[in-house]
Amino acid sequence: MPNLQSLVTSIDNSVSDNTKPLILGVSGASGLIYAVRALKFLLQANYEIELVASKSTYMVWQSEQNIRMPLEPAQQEQFWRQQAVVEEAGKLRCHPWSDVGANIASGSFRTLGMIVIPCSMSTVAKLAGGLSSDLLERAADVQLKEGRKLVVVPRETPFSLIHLRNLTTLAEAGVRVVPAIPAWYHNPKTIEDLVDFVVARALDQLDIDCIPIQRWQGRQD
Ligand SMILES: Cc1cc2nc3c(=O)[nH]c(=O)nc-3n(C[C@H](O)[C@H](O)[C@H](O)COP(=O)(O)O)c2cc1C
Repeated sequence: MPNLQSLVTSIDNSVSDNTKPLILGVSGASGLIYAVRALKFLLQANYEIELVASKSTYMVWQSEQNIRMPLEPAQQEQFWRQQAVVEEAGKLRCHPWSDVGANIASGSFRTLGMIVIPCSMSTVAKLAGGLSSDLLERAADVQLKEGRKLVVVPRETPFSLIHLRNLTTLAEAGVRVVPAIPAWYHNPKTIEDLVDFVVARALDQLDIDCIPIQRWQGRQD
């Protein structure tokens, strides 16, 4: 067991740049709690979020939580804010999955980058193949062509050879692959502790530090 004195809980706001919007893509993999926690901390830190949930996400909400996610953007914004329990902080704009004419579909719309959390194997495959068959895929493709940061948080187990090859293709293209695999050295007590660790490590790839996780400072004993 690690000596807990070697773990430090801090947030380094000096590296945060919330002057441009961040795209939050949510695909139809299990673990919508990852998206909810990411959104919660980003809004609380006053980030401007452009959120696009894939068509399959609606079914996963239904299956995992028995909750209907509204289709209409204003209602969806309210829905995500309720899930994240953040009434007013930050800015949130939700886009319909099919709206490939949205701002985030164009490289001329400047962003901090994009995180896809959780990321299904279907979305991994489509991104690796350069497909843009919905707004989430198009927005991710745009980040790549513009040389911006793209982070994916894949959730599947086990991975097939095809999944691994597609993830390798993404890594070779500069995508940061942060699997939804929590660590245990920070002494997690709750599901949120486990989830937040994954979300924080994913946001680290975007130089965003807005989640109070316990970070390893080296052994103190
Ligand atoms: C309840 C539920 C859980 C799912 N979990 C996963 C998962 O963890 N990983 C995955 O790759 N696909 C998962 N799927 C399957 C995807 O939703 C499906 O492949 C879908 O086509 C993905 O589309 P999208 O990538 O456009 O969101 C799940 C589906 C359902 C209904």
